[in-house]
Amino acid sequence: MAEDTAKTTSPTSAELAERPGWLKAPLLRVLASQIVGSALAFGGAGLLTQITGVPVPVIIALLFQGIIAGAIGFFFKLPNWWLPVQIVLPPATGWALLISIPGWVYLGLFVVLVLIYWNSATNRVPLYLTNRQTVDAIADLLPVREGPKFLDLGCGTGSVLFPLAIQRPDAKIVGIESAPLVFLGAWLRLHLSGTSNVRVILDDFWKRDLGAYDVVYAFLSPVPMPPLYHKADREMRKGTLLISNSFIVPGYPPDETINVDDGRKTKLFIWKMGGKPVLQQNGGGEAEEGEEPDNIGDGGQENS
Ligand SMILES: C[S@@+](CC[C@H](N)C(=O)[O-])C[C@H]1O[C@@H](n2cnc3c(N)ncnc32)[C@H](O)[C@@H]1O
Repeated sequence: MAEDTAKTTSPTSAELAERPGWLKAPLLRVLASQIVGSALAFGGAGLLTQITGVPVPVIIALLFQGIIAGAIGFFFKLPNWWLPVQIVLPPATGWALLISIPGWVYLGLFVVLVLIYWNSATNRVPLYLTNRQTVDAIADLLPVREGPKFLDLGCGTGSVLFPLAIQRPDAKIVGIESAPLVFLGAWLRLHLSGTSNVRVILDDFWKRDLGAYDVVYAFLSPVPMPPLYHKADREMRKGTLLISNSFIVPGYPPDETINVDDGRKTKLFIWKMGGKPVLQQNGGGEAEEGEEPDNIGDGGQENS
């Protein structure tokens, strides 16, 4: 496939390799919008008070801070849902200060939220869990031979690991999780259930090699998918499977898409790794209707 075509339709390998980080985090842009909004709103309120002699109520200045910050957020290309959040944030903070909630409550809440949503600010991956119907569909994708190795990247509290371990007691099931409180949930579940074929690891999955696994599963967000695909492509063996719940890799159409029969209409995108031309002109996405199904259930057999 021509290199030029690839460049216009797909991310470059540098873009693919680029992982999400603090500099691109929306929170930094929100903070910058609020600082500028605060300077303009309170500067304007001070000026108005000097001209008219009538003091502008703080709550009105805070509201204007939010509106200005919301408008600046558009220039910073923040997603639209940040607009109401940005508007409400300053007056809500002012109100919370007025009713004088003790400082430790905020600190405690902040610490708990950080320990749960560890990856939201940088990786932009929140915590939501895979449902049972989807786990059943994943179980069908494991190689039928004895002892396949499965990895859940960002395993949460183990919603995939434990039901899968029951369905496939012969499989080696591993989960990596970096959010400390969430990991603790999975770790407790492991020790309380006494499951012997599950391992949970507290770590950042970007630091781990994927080469040992037959099936790697990710339920993350759109942001890490291009660099994750790049990593999987480099590290996973020929014929093994990368499965993404809900999130595509632009420019790299999956080999198969499974529509799970659940309430949220989950889609599992499946790439069979190694030795295939991947770049396409249509920018990627779901596999075409009527596409020849790959015999994906045997993934990894050739490596056994
Ligand atoms: C959407 S949840 C999915 C949880 C679980 N895999 C499931 O399907 O039920 C994503 C999880 O990935 C974790 N995560 C995100 N980035 C990570 C990273 N770089 N290393 C380890 N865990 C990560 C988050 O903390 C979160 O628990």
